[in-house]
Amino acid sequence: MMKIESLPRVTASHLVKSVDLNHHGTLYAGRMAEWVVEVGFMTARAALECSPQNIVCVRLHGMDFRESVDGGETLVLEGRTAYVGRSSLTVYVQASKLHDRKKERVPTDGFVTFVHIKDGKATPHELEVEAPETEEAQQIWMHIANERSKRQGK
Ligand SMILES: CC(C)(COP(=O)(O)OP(=O)(O)OC[C@H]1O[C@@H](n2cnc3c(N)ncnc32)[C@H](O)[C@@H]1OP(=O)(O)O)[C@@H](O)C(=O)NCCC(=O)NCCS
Repeated sequence: MMKIESLPRVTASHLVKSVDLNHHGTLYAGRMAEWVVEVGFMTARAALECSPQNIVCVRLHGMDFRESVDGGETLVLEGRTAYVGRSSLTVYVQASKLHDRKKERVPTDGFVTFVHIKDGKATPHELEVEAPETEEAQQIWMHIANERSKRQGK
């Protein structure tokens, strides 16, 4: 069985260009969401070691925009596996500004959930992980576990 902490983290850097800005002249939320989904997908695929054909996104959740990002900034997004289900896998993504020396606040973070599919149907991915060991990994695991139990209770 794998340790969740040892699954690959995937990092993607983006230069925030004019085409990425909203009417306030700062990074457009939709573009940020696109980048979060993208790095989430790459992280899920790296963890599951499967073909891109076998992964679909089912949920973009808990995404917070805490600080605006100006044009010209370099944004670094890092995805890590947050939760592993039977056929689903949730990735936690943090976006930070490369040149922000203080790095006190993460401008955006959020979760993306993917499902392993075959012939269009959810299929077990067969990745099994041990219970997380670090406090940070435990917190994000529990966050998703609680969300799942609320959804199942509906
Ligand atoms: C992926 C899909 C086939 C899953 O079908 P489904 O009938 O919901 O599957 P199930 O109910 O068997 O759920 C399978 C797993 O996905 C999880 N899941 C399904 N929908 C979910 C959602 N919206 N949020 C979080 N988890 C979800 C379930 O909790 C379950 O997890 P587990 O196996 O780890 O316990 C279907 O939801 C689908 O085709 N969605 C569209 C995907 C897509 O087009 N994405 C691109 C978006 S533009």
